[in-house]
Amino acid sequence: MSSFEPLVFSGVQPTGNLQLGNYLGAIKRWVELQNSYNCIYCVVDMHALTTNPAPEKLIQHTREVVAAFLASGIDPKKHIVFNQSRVYQHAELAWIFNCIARIGWMNRMTQFKDKVGRDREKASLGLFAYPSLMAADILVYRATHVPVGEDQRQHLELTRDIAQKFNSDYSHRIESLGIGINLKAGDEIICGFFPIAEPLISETSMRIMSLRDGTKKMSKSDPSDLSRINLDDTPDDIARKIRKAKTDSGPFPETMEELKNKPEADNLAGIYAALDDRDKESVLAEFRVKQFSDFKLALIDILVEKLSCVSSELRHLKNDPAYIDSVLKDGSRRASVIAEKNMKHIRDIVGLLQD
Ligand code: TRP
Repeated sequence: MSSFEPLVFSGVQPTGNLQLGNYLGAIKRWVELQNSYNCIYCVVDMHALTTNPAPEKLIQHTREVVAAFLASGIDPKKHIVFNQSRVYQHAELAWIFNCIARIGWMNRMTQFKDKVGRDREKASLGLFAYPSLMAADILVYRATHVPVGEDQRQHLELTRDIAQKFNSDYSHRIESLGIGINLKAGDEIICGFFPIAEPLISETSMRIMSLRDGTKKMSKSDPSDLSRINLDDTPDDIARKIRKAKTDSGPFPETMEELKNKPEADNLAGIYAALDDRDKESVLAEFRVKQFSDFKLALIDILVEKLSCVSSELRHLKNDPAYIDSVLKDGSRRASVIAEKNMKHIRDIVGLLQD
C-alpha cells in the first residue's frame, strides 16, 4: 500500500429526539458522503458516559440515533453503522493515545474548559481524556476524512497531532515492521502508520435556531415543542410550527444586509436554503416582494417534501428495536474486523506482546 485508502469516519453522541438541526447539521452530509466514500458511522456511547446519563436513557437514545440515521438514508449494508462500546479496540487504542498526548495539549481544549468552567477539579478524568478517545475512534480504522461541525475542529487538530507524534515516535519501528506508509512530516519523509485525517467541515456550517427565538439554537431540551421541528414530526406538526414560527413584521427581507438584523427570518431562509441545497441569496431573490406568509407556505412544502419519508420511517423504526439491534450487531462485527486488524499492528509497533 502506498497511500491510505480513503475512508470516512464520524461519530455522534446518543441523544434522544433528534431534530432538524441534527439533520441539516450532520446527518444529511453523512448521507451524501456515502456516494463518494466508504463510510463508518458510530454512535459514541462511551463518550456519552462522560455526562453520566441514566442507563435506560443511554440505551434508548443509542437506538433512537441509529433509527434516525437509517430513516434518513444511511445504508448499513454498504457502509458500517455501530455503537462504539461494542468494538473494545477503541478503548484499547485510547489508552495508548493517553500515553502519546501531552497534558499541555489537553489543557488547551476549549470544549473542556467551557464545559467545566471553574469546577475543573471536580470534572471527571473521562471528560478530560474525551478527545483522546475521539482520536482513537478515527484512527483505529485509519480513517482519512472526518465530517464534523465547526465545534469539533480543535478535537480534529488534536487527532492529527496525536497521529503525527505516534508516527514520528515509532517511525523506525513502523518501517522495520514493513507496515507503514511514507508521509511528509515537515521537510522530512517519515514512515507512518496513521493517516493525518482531514476534517470535512461544511462551509455553510449550519446552525439551525429556535423557531421561537432566532438567537437561541434549536434544541431538543427547549421546553416549547413549537421551537423545533422534530425528525418524527408529521406534516401537520410541521405546518403548524412553521405557521406559528416567530417572524418580524413586514414583507420578506430583500437583502443579506437586512437579514442581519432579523434573526428569525435569517434562520427560516437558512433552513429553506439548506433543504434545497442552495444559498440564502438565491432564496431571497426568489421571494423578493412576496409576503412572508407566501414564503412560509413554500417552506412548509419543502420541509414536508424532504422530511416526510424520514419521519414516517423514523416512527416505524422506533417501534422496531429488534431490527435496530440487529443492524448494530452486524455493524459492530464488521467494524471489529477492521479495528482488530489495525490493532494487531499497533500492538506490534508499541511492543505489547500478543499471539
Ligand atoms: N465529539 C463529537 C461530537 O460531540 C462526537 C465524536 C466522537 C466524533 N468521536 C468522534 C466525531 C470521531 C467525529 C469522529 O460531536
